[in-house]
Amino acid sequence: MKKSVLFLAAAALAAGCATADKQSPKNTINQDEVMSKLSLEDKAHFVIGTGMAGFSGNDAVIGATRSLVPGAAGTTYPLDSLGIPAVVLADGPAGLRIDAKRDGDSATYYCTHFPIGTLLASTWNTQLIEQVGQAIGEEVKEYGADVLLAPALNIMRNPLCGRNFEYYSEDPVVAGKTAAAYITGVQKNDVGTSIKHFAANNQETNRMNNDAHISQRALREIYLKGFEIAIKESKPWTVMTSYNYINGVYTSESKDLVTTILRDEWGYEGTVMTDWFGGKDGAKQMWAGNDMLQPGKAEQFDSIVAGVKSGKLSEADLDRSVKRILNLVEKSPRYQGYKYSNKPDLKAHAAVTRQSAAEGMVLMKNGGALPFAKTVKNVALYGNTSYDFIAGGTGSGNVNHAYVVSLLDGLKNGGYTVSDELKNAYAAYAAECKAKVEAEIAAAAKKDPKNAMLMRFMPRPLPAEKQFSADELTKQAAASDIAVITLGRISGEFMDRKAADFNLSDSERQLITQVCDVYHKAGKQVVVLLNIGGVIETASWNQLPDAILCAWQAGQEGGNSVVDVLSGKQSPSGKFTMTWPVNFTDAYSSKNFPVDQDPRIDMTNQGSKSANVKNVDYTDYEEDIYVGYRYFDSFDVPVSYPFGFGLSYTTFAYSDAKIVENGDAYEVSVTVKNTGKHEGKEVVELYISAPDNQAANKPVKELKAYGKTKQLAPGESETITMTVQAADLASFDESASAWVVAAGEYQFLVGASSADIKATLKATVKAQQTKVNNVLAPQTQLNLLKR
Ligand code: BGC
Repeated sequence: MKKSVLFLAAAALAAGCATADKQSPKNTINQDEVMSKLSLEDKAHFVIGTGMAGFSGNDAVIGATRSLVPGAAGTTYPLDSLGIPAVVLADGPAGLRIDAKRDGDSATYYCTHFPIGTLLASTWNTQLIEQVGQAIGEEVKEYGADVLLAPALNIMRNPLCGRNFEYYSEDPVVAGKTAAAYITGVQKNDVGTSIKHFAANNQETNRMNNDAHISQRALREIYLKGFEIAIKESKPWTVMTSYNYINGVYTSESKDLVTTILRDEWGYEGTVMTDWFGGKDGAKQMWAGNDMLQPGKAEQFDSIVAGVKSGKLSEADLDRSVKRILNLVEKSPRYQGYKYSNKPDLKAHAAVTRQSAAEGMVLMKNGGALPFAKTVKNVALYGNTSYDFIAGGTGSGNVNHAYVVSLLDGLKNGGYTVSDELKNAYAAYAAECKAKVEAEIAAAAKKDPKNAMLMRFMPRPLPAEKQFSADELTKQAAASDIAVITLGRISGEFMDRKAADFNLSDSERQLITQVCDVYHKAGKQVVVLLNIGGVIETASWNQLPDAILCAWQAGQEGGNSVVDVLSGKQSPSGKFTMTWPVNFTDAYSSKNFPVDQDPRIDMTNQGSKSANVKNVDYTDYEEDIYVGYRYFDSFDVPVSYPFGFGLSYTTFAYSDAKIVENGDAYEVSVTVKNTGKHEGKEVVELYISAPDNQAANKPVKELKAYGKTKQLAPGESETITMTVQAADLASFDESASAWVVAAGEYQFLVGASSADIKATLKATVKAQQTKVNNVLAPQTQLNLLKR
């Protein structure tokens, strides 16, 4: 990469920008003047990032910008002599990811590890999610970053996707609304977000070179819909394109996706950037409207300059992207001269994460073990992750947190006592397992330091569960009031989960069986807690324990949040945003998912799409629109837990369901009454069933809106109103390239889950059609599932 004259001219990166605080007038960039001073080379530099240490071979530029906020994923390119600073882009979904420590600096820069995306979505509480976003955004701003590389919004197409923990749902409405709330919250701080990964990054295996073959209808109704909802509702400052191809074209090189759909149809006006090292042809990415290439590679610079010189890329297209990045820089706290404190309110944010995490936990079974009875004082704690609670997944979705509250500490904080004998046994076992892992990493580092770095960045298999003899368990059962067993799972980018990760291991199965057996014989109850990022198999063992709570990966206050729920301080009110299949192969997408394949890790996209291995080089989305409950419901396939399911410590009655037509809108209201003895909140779900849906090849029902009550005291009621626009009822008709609402009588189903419909209302809807562009058609024949 040729070094820019402008870059060399500068040392103090932020010096060129005017100083301002919130009260001062907004500083503006005179774009015409800046543009008039930029050479072609300057522009080519400006649209690509400043590189990534160890990967881009561009260490001079990286050195200068990395020091802005160490550990941030990247920056924009500074034009210092023109007063245009580099702005800082940092991950990620569960909180800001920057280095916690800096060389020669005794201060620490820890960030709050908030709950994973899946947990946030499971709250179905957009107000709460907005508050979490606001807290995350405050850390972004106070640590001197400008754009948060989040939220991540891909559809949970298959239970084994390695990044499902960062994502929200198998349903685009839940995903879109959750993302919109998160973005609104973060951006309230006048910092940016980057909604990602646009689009269809639904597997990690060969993620940089996988071609997703998807019908236009499934793209429009499922894989793009969530982005459309979030982008229109919340206007993220940036959009991050994904790594994969869609129907033969890299998303970052697809004008149809990045310009025709995103900008022309949805009216998006912000900046589009690639995922890190995503795509191949810099000139084509610019032409497509992907404004910024991150983190930047020498080839991209060369490709853009050569592209303009040869006429392959018009300079006007390049200018347009330069201007969009200038718009982004202009809005940034760094350009506005914001004096960040490096002291976000970590204490207040610990309270936010604690409360939000408790609200997204899902009670799956309760035979009376929860909340703990007043007589429960001594808790016997089993499972490795009870003592080493998993706050979140690995990779760019991780956060450098100061601490994680384990379940052990959470129980102690809650006033419970725990068995010291068990604690000591687990501590010794953990030390043994840790030593083995460190030895493996040290051996790998000897061969190649990059390997060791990767091993730390990526998920490591968790150790087998420690086993106990019947005598040991009997002794523990006599000394404790209840047993809690935690099962853990961890995953992250670059790799999908293995089939074995979905199923229970032998050691887990044995632990649950034996503990339940011994405790039940002793007249004591057993609670299983799931500290996981994605769904697991439950059908073969869920009859054994007395209660099951899905705590997800609940962030750094995890143990405290769990104990808030176990103790009854907070009634669980989370519901699943995905289906829990009996076997993962029950999901139709499993026929076309890279189960237990070589992940083909390719850090900087050196690979090629030459081979043609099914589900690795290309993936046929043959389930079409039948993703998640749309499949299980429509084809009567039994599940372990349906979409939208979640129990409470109390019970709710639904009454007075009504539908009112208001122009083109349908307002559905229902009164929810707390009929139990505990306070609690209820999520209300609104599904639509289309007329003649068999003939129209539609799912039996689709979620269109939802609401959540406030905390209801026993006996208290609240009326929830949910609004659906007639246009929301449309399906995508490929032959007409249009969203089509078929005329007829629609059923509006008010449910407590997709499988528990409380009231059915009806309304006659008029036909409508909205034409859109005929783009992104598959290039291969797909054998699509139909009803
Ligand atoms: C991930 C993105 C992330 C980026 C920067 C990529 O590997 O896919 O989600 O924002 O790295 O860290």
